[in-house]
Amino acid sequence: APKKFSHVLPGEHVYDGILFFGYSPPDTLNLVKNFEVRSDDVILVTYPKAGTTWMQEILWLLMHNGDFDGAMATPVYMRSPFLEFKDLTLNEVGLDLAKRAASPRVIKTHLPMKRVPKQMHDKKPKVIVFFRNPKDVCVSYFNFYRSSSSFGNFRGSWPEFLAMFNEGHVDHGSWFDFTKSWWPLREQPNFKLVFYEDLKKNPFSVIKQVAEFLDKTNLDDVTISRIAAHCSFDKMKENPMTNHSDVYSINSAVSPLLRKGMVGDWKTVFTVKQNEDFDKLYQEKLGHLRIPFTYEL
Ligand code: A3P
Repeated sequence: APKKFSHVLPGEHVYDGILFFGYSPPDTLNLVKNFEVRSDDVILVTYPKAGTTWMQEILWLLMHNGDFDGAMATPVYMRSPFLEFKDLTLNEVGLDLAKRAASPRVIKTHLPMKRVPKQMHDKKPKVIVFFRNPKDVCVSYFNFYRSSSSFGNFRGSWPEFLAMFNEGHVDHGSWFDFTKSWWPLREQPNFKLVFYEDLKKNPFSVIKQVAEFLDKTNLDDVTISRIAAHCSFDKMKENPMTNHSDVYSINSAVSPLLRKGMVGDWKTVFTVKQNEDFDKLYQEKLGHLRIPFTYEL
């Protein structure tokens, strides 16, 4: 049968029914399952392009009591390891970086619930699940596919990428499956679900709620305000420790990691028909869950 999609990710493989790029090779995904979790870990769970980097910086600063000097001394991707990612610059897998890291660790993963370390369920680390509306995620992912050699510098069209996204034929698999897998855990005491759009609208109050969830009640409002300011889109875009301008695989001239940072940019990309089709697909797949996504502010 002819292949449905012509784009091939560098080193792509299917693991447990999920498509991955070569930076999350099978041996790494095997090791993730038995990764040793610490009870004082903070684990950030996101689908790619949900605003992971934004929340990583916030969580790291909260867990380090607003250590801005520390945050300005080391790139965020070194301070907060990406568990299942084997980076060529660091020449190291995120889980090895994490093993060496001192507590409290802020660990990032894009894996669906069934694939995360087994110990996440008994060590009860604090888990932040960070969701963003899928239309903005898809547009952000399209631009990242185009700019990043990790994704093979995608040169296909937007309709082609949208079809790939809708079918889960992208790195880390289906957004729908990811979202469905984590949604039921939101009520557990060691879990907190946060929405990108809420953080965008009310950064101070959402960061304060996250601080309370993390038991960082020692942090005063001045520190929370400073964290919100440090983590604004404009500040993070110009900050070399957060903007990934030093990451060889990202061609910022095509599209930088901190691209627009908006709610509702999808409206400039989706046609009316594509939007109607997406809404229909969403209803079929996840409509019954009634997840309160926001598509515009
Ligand atoms: P856009 O492409 O829509 O601009 P991830 O970190 O998961 O790869 O997500 C990247 C997306 O998060 C990008 O979205 C990026 O601009 C956005 N983002 C990163 N930092 C942000 C911030 N401080 N405020 C708002 N959005 C941010």
